[in-house]
Amino acid sequence: MPDTSEVRPYNSERSKKEQVTQMFDGIAPNYDLLNRVLTLGIDTIWRKNAIKKLRDSAPSTLLDIATGTADVAIEACKQIDGLQVTGLDISSEMIAFGNKKVKKRGLEDQIKLVVGDSEALPFEDNSFDALTVSFGIRNFENLKKGLTEMRRVLAKDGQLVILEFSKPTLFPFKQLFHAYFKYVLPVIGRIKSKDPKAYTYLYESVQAFPDYDKLDTILKEVGFKNTEWKSQTLGICTIYTGSK
Ligand SMILES: C[S@@+](CC[C@H](N)C(=O)[O-])C[C@H]1O[C@@H](n2cnc3c(N)ncnc32)[C@H](O)[C@@H]1O
Repeated sequence: MPDTSEVRPYNSERSKKEQVTQMFDGIAPNYDLLNRVLTLGIDTIWRKNAIKKLRDSAPSTLLDIATGTADVAIEACKQIDGLQVTGLDISSEMIAFGNKKVKKRGLEDQIKLVVGDSEALPFEDNSFDALTVSFGIRNFENLKKGLTEMRRVLAKDGQLVILEFSKPTLFPFKQLFHAYFKYVLPVIGRIKSKDPKAYTYLYESVQAFPDYDKLDTILKEVGFKNTEWKSQTLGICTIYTGSK
């Protein structure tokens, strides 16, 4: 199985980071609709469950990495009173759609979205009480570098929540989901997103991603403590938590 950094959307010489940015810039107009269609709307429940993990620590500030169209940032403001959210993403098109949603919901005073790279965060050490990343880390060029940067900007005892696809392990759901993910989803994705590669890349990047215990071990290696994980919907995705 190739390393995550080797799994890239397009067959070009450009870096994974450049290819991922190009891909999300291209699919941004259809991203939200495709999420709802391809997951039958269950993705909204996964994001809700991820934010629930933050509620006990009652953070005042949250950095949402790879914020995309700001679904996690918006959900966090719904669940946590008075929260100030910074959402960062490398794709300016995803940020543009996110800003429209933030404005529509009147959340401009609570959510600020910025274009930036998770592997070189433009923030001081210990800047945020909490940190989220939803369906983002799989796309990083250098996973450990991104996680190390995330830990750097998190305050002491600050909470980390990661939501990411994982590979179901239970028979026969494992086999059924694998068939859907490998063969059906790329076809719907290709038609709706108009990018023939984006949803093949989704499948390939999930296959190469170190899920469950493997990510837990990496989180510990970069210095996170109290790490735990809980799979969602028979392992389609998993919520990983830890603190600094
Ligand atoms: C699948 S989307 C997830 C968006 C959102 N978090 C959600 O839950 O819907 C992945 C996002 O990660 C962003 N991304 C990928 N690599 C990144 C990086 N190095 N730095 C910042 N954002 C990145 C992409 O631009 C894209 O918007």
